[in-house]
Amino acid sequence: MSEEVTYADLKFQDSSKTGKIQEFDKFGIKVPPAASHVWRQRAWALTLLCLLLLIGLGVLGSLFYITSKIHMEKLNKLQNFKEELQRNVSLQLMHNMNSSEKIRNLSITLQETATKLCHELYTKIPEHKCKPCPKKWMWHEDRCYIQFMHYETWQKSDKICSDHNASLLKITNKSMLEFIKSLRLYDYWLGLSPRKYKNGYKILDETIISSNWFTRNTNDLDDWMYCGYTENTYVYHTRCTETKRIICEKLANPVKIESILMSEVPEA
Ligand SMILES: *[C@@H]1O[C@H](CO)[C@@H](O)[C@H](O)[C@H]1NC(C)=O
Ligand SMILES: *[C@@H]1O[C@H](CO)[C@@H](O)[C@H](O)[C@H]1NC(C)=O
Ligand SMILES: *[C@@H]1O[C@H](CO)[C@@H](O)[C@H](O)[C@H]1NC(C)=O
Ligand SMILES: *[C@@H]1O[C@H](CO)[C@@H](O)[C@H](O)[C@H]1NC(C)=O
Ligand SMILES: *[C@@H]1O[C@H](CO)[C@@H](O)[C@H](O)[C@H]1NC(C)=O
Repeated sequence: MSEEVTYADLKFQDSSKTGKIQEFDKFGIKVPPAASHVWRQRAWALTLLCLLLLIGLGVLGSLFYITSKIHMEKLNKLQNFKEELQRNVSLQLMHNMNSSEKIRNLSITLQETATKLCHELYTKIPEHKCKPCPKKWMWHEDRCYIQFMHYETWQKSDKICSDHNASLLKITNKSMLEFIKSLRLYDYWLGLSPRKYKNGYKILDETIISSNWFTRNTNDLDDWMYCGYTENTYVYHTRCTETKRIICEKLANPVKIESILMSEVPEA
């Protein structure tokens, strides 16, 4: 028996040729169970290993799934937080814009009220400190006016006005016209553009719409040009080298709110 076993073992080792094993079967010698047993064990081990690997994979997969789910949730929360923050910031911005607009509106209203109040004071105390025009200048709406009683050529008059950071009188709307009429100007130059012809006269009212109010520089003014002047409610033209009186106008400064509270008149 032991001989057979050895022989079989030997043969088994030589088992690259399977035909031999079949020969044994023919002789009725049973193939010992040891070989298949080892095989089965190995198969079992392999299966187990595979199972273990599968389980490991499963665990890893679920771990990955859980962590990525947590991450996704965190990301979503962060996204929501970001959106809420953006909403809050834009709301805050809008609110701030409203506030600054309200402040702007309030300061405009305050300025308008101060100007009205200053105007009231001006009619009672012409030299009140709140007046937005220099001393001796008249104030009407947003302009300051000054009259000089002496006579000058048109060009010299223009120069005198610009030396005061002002310009010769231009009447551009009804409200100014009424104010100028109330001054009853006689023989005053106007800030009309010098022209080459004399023609007739015009009513002062017409100057608002149809006049060529002066804007060019006058350095090349020749002796034969005609310049406009006013006499009561009429406008005439005469040689620019003749002499008339002067009235200048310029923009008034804004009324200083704190100046309303000062009762004294300005020193300068
Ligand atoms: C957004 O504003 C609301 C209400 O003012 C506040 O409850 C919330 O905490 C703010 N959110 C953030 C992210 O600041
Ligand atoms: C801003 O003002 C407008 C109207 O003036 C108003 O409809 C809006 O609700 C205001 N917004 C805020 C944030 O106060
Ligand atoms: C500011 O004034 C303008 C024009 O007068 C007005 O349309 C706007 O609603 C005002 N805004 C606020 C915030 O009061
Ligand atoms: C008339 O014009 C003056 C100066 O251009 C301006 O200050 C004033 O507001 C105007 N008045 C009217 C009623 O248009
Ligand atoms: C005219 O304006 C200039 C510059 O703004 C100033 O320096 C000068 O004092 C002003 N002159 C008068 C008479 O207001």
